[in-house]
Amino acid sequence: MLKIRVDQYQTKALLNGFLYREYRDLTYVERPVSEIQQLNLFIPQAYYQQESINGYTAATAPIFVPNTVGDYLPGPADFPGNDQWPSRSKTIEAALQRGYVVASPGLRGRTQQNESGDYIGKAPAFIVDLKAAIRFLRHNADHLPGNYERIITNGTSAGGATSALAGVSGNHPFFQPLLDELGAAKESDAIYAASCYCPIHNLEHADLAYEWQFNGITTYHNQQMDFKTDPPRAIAVDGELTNEQQKLSKELKQGFRAYFNQLNLHDQQGKELTIDQDGKGSFLKLIQALIMQSAQQVLNEGQTLSAEAGLTVVDQQVVGIDWPQYLAYIGRKKAVPAFDDLTLASAENDLFGTRQIPQQHFTDFGQLNSQVKASQADPALVAAVNPIHYLTETSGQTAHYWRIRHGASDRDTAFSIPLILALFLQDQGKQVDFAYPWGIGHDGDYDLVALFDWIDQICQ
Ligand code: DHB
Repeated sequence: MLKIRVDQYQTKALLNGFLYREYRDLTYVERPVSEIQQLNLFIPQAYYQQESINGYTAATAPIFVPNTVGDYLPGPADFPGNDQWPSRSKTIEAALQRGYVVASPGLRGRTQQNESGDYIGKAPAFIVDLKAAIRFLRHNADHLPGNYERIITNGTSAGGATSALAGVSGNHPFFQPLLDELGAAKESDAIYAASCYCPIHNLEHADLAYEWQFNGITTYHNQQMDFKTDPPRAIAVDGELTNEQQKLSKELKQGFRAYFNQLNLHDQQGKELTIDQDGKGSFLKLIQALIMQSAQQVLNEGQTLSAEAGLTVVDQQVVGIDWPQYLAYIGRKKAVPAFDDLTLASAENDLFGTRQIPQQHFTDFGQLNSQVKASQADPALVAAVNPIHYLTETSGQTAHYWRIRHGASDRDTAFSIPLILALFLQDQGKQVDFAYPWGIGHDGDYDLVALFDWIDQICQ
């Protein structure tokens, strides 16, 4: 049942005439619980004519697997020309023309309910579905162009976290019963490489990280999505932290130091990274150096840097950064706690609901300080959707190649959150391409040429 009928394709063309075969709406599990559990598959026509694209052939083309998950909402399967939010059709179109086979799986999200009113897309549904989709692709590899040992996932924000999870938890036993329940193909779900833009992950430590970064900044400039409009519209929610929130911020900040220092992470030279008693230290210096490097790159390209960013530039060299000024320049987005909201109002509270309970806390801190009647998610489940968890044990397979980007103006999660992931991977001998690109906010796929250059470099 999980075999693609290889003759059931349509030949399509991009606007510039580039030809590809399209397989639509392929249900990738035997017992789906939602219509979203389907994928679309796109294959350059050239591979059926013994031609090559960008040096790739039907035997060697990488399999690019972008997802459309955002905000931990359902991420539907995408296709070229799709202009419906949350499509990233331009990514698919560009990837096809680079010679990649592209698979776009639909993944369940936190708001989905079945006819009985049960929630069917709470954690860990999004990653279970991506694994099932990867298994389905491998199950059909014999009859399709492409090298299924070169699967590369891609996503942004919650979708970046989804991509990261696929990269760290290949064939992990935690997921086997969940995959069996859905009737996923009995294949490997390990991947070759992961591209992660601003991954909103490590959720149970993200509040600590946010206050380590933003403690002292007491105004916030958030947005709330209005899903009644199409596309959804962002409404500004600005505010001032209360005295109570400022007190909690201090506690969370201190908690981050304790958390970070026991991770035992190292810089590229093998020197242990730490946070000292005043909240500074070698880890902060590393973050600052990376931000300065990214500013330097922009200067080297002949662009100017905002005078308000707090950088010291001498002879076209970025030689210093006034950290409080830089943080004030980018601004705080979220109140306290940033993720485990004390009234259960965050996307993450919603992600950690159950089949019957819409929202829950997912940290002891949130539960302890809750302002509403609330329950707490099973810590084992919270860990199971945290990529970092898999880097502290050895039961899963980890992709060897990683490209992680988090904009230097992104305030959706702290700078330390993507960096901790990169450092763990680096400490374990993985190849990690990491940067905080200058002037970029909470966004992804903004540098597709560079992303695809990286893919070519690891695949050719
Ligand atoms: C996303 C952004 C957030 O700030 C968050 O907390 C969760 C998800 C997103 O854009 O996917």
